[in-house]
Amino acid sequence: MKSKSGVSRRRVLQIAGASAAAAAFPFARPAIAQGAPLKVGLLLPYSGTFAALGDAITNAMDLYVKQQDGKLAGRTIQWIKVDDESAPPKATELTTKLIQGEKVDVLIGTVHSGVAMAMAKLAREAEIPTLIPNAGANVLTRAQCAKNIFRTSFGNSQPGVAAGAAMIKAGIKTAVTYSWKYAAGDESVDGFRQSFTAGGGKIIKELSIPFPNVEFQAGLAEIASLKPEAVYSFFAGGGALKYLKDFHAAGLNKSIQLWGPGFLTDGVEKAAGEAGNGVKTALHYVESLDNAENKKFRTDYNAAFKRFPDVYAVQGWDTTMLLDIGLKATGGDIAKKDDLYKAMRNAKFNSPRGPFRLSASQNPIHNFYLRELKNGENVFLGVAATDVSDPTTGCSLA
Ligand code: PHB
Repeated sequence: MKSKSGVSRRRVLQIAGASAAAAAFPFARPAIAQGAPLKVGLLLPYSGTFAALGDAITNAMDLYVKQQDGKLAGRTIQWIKVDDESAPPKATELTTKLIQGEKVDVLIGTVHSGVAMAMAKLAREAEIPTLIPNAGANVLTRAQCAKNIFRTSFGNSQPGVAAGAAMIKAGIKTAVTYSWKYAAGDESVDGFRQSFTAGGGKIIKELSIPFPNVEFQAGLAEIASLKPEAVYSFFAGGGALKYLKDFHAAGLNKSIQLWGPGFLTDGVEKAAGEAGNGVKTALHYVESLDNAENKKFRTDYNAAFKRFPDVYAVQGWDTTMLLDIGLKATGGDIAKKDDLYKAMRNAKFNSPRGPFRLSASQNPIHNFYLRELKNGENVFLGVAATDVSDPTTGCSLA
């Protein structure tokens, strides 16, 4: 069933009161008063292999707003949620429905790099304030950067670079890569390749399977015969959990170290159980970070959702924080875009992940941590690198 705006009811999971009011009074002038709700479109996966990631991001954003009595800079926040299913072919239609159909004031999305690239193209054209709470596609904060597009998560190569360098430090000389074949997997491996080979490591073979395929057996059999010292893998969400279990069931963990970006274990650390033990990852977050923001965030999130937050929840929190900082600088008037963007570009705050600020291409500059999964917890092994910025190649926002 289609709504007035053409957005199917199945996809629009929640449209709060103001839309209903507009439908009842179709000739009323659009509310521009600062007290009117701010419509925030959420293009996120609520089904499929990344569903838990979309939920974690949404939970944290909702928690942030609830802690401020449902408001940011005096504006009531109205979430308009759309399930993008991590399906790039659907992204253009769904983004158009949010921007043109729902006329959202702000766009927040998404998890999957392919969906994000399609979304960002429309967001750039519409010049709508846009925040990316996960998808790491490098180009979005390199050659395709835009003054209205902010990323609060990471660039795909960043965790790969950190992991590759840590593997060299750990004395590993040979590796095989095994990842999903799409922008996120490819760019994660690019980052890994860069630092691992620069340190003298040898990549014996690069294996991949299409997203969101989880039939890992053929690749695991090939890894067993290639006998590298380590494997570097990008998988996430439901796919990562299946991969950890299959890697373990094949007995590979006995002779081959498994490494990756922290997405390989975040959100699935408990469910992986014994299969996750010993998996080493690099990421811009680890549960045990000893800072006041992290402690409060973990306590509050657990109280609200009966589970502890992962990196995706942290990114959702920081997304709302950044938007809040921008909105406060405009007194809640989203039309003051120059003021909004200026405040967001220059924002510096203490995130649960540690110090957070943005590069010239509006991508986070943050620390990377080395972790090892032990009995359901990513244990902090050390700081892999501080103040890491992705190259801003091809981006000029001056
Ligand atoms: C991506 O598609 O950019 C992506 C998806 C899931 C992750 C990380 C990156 O955990």
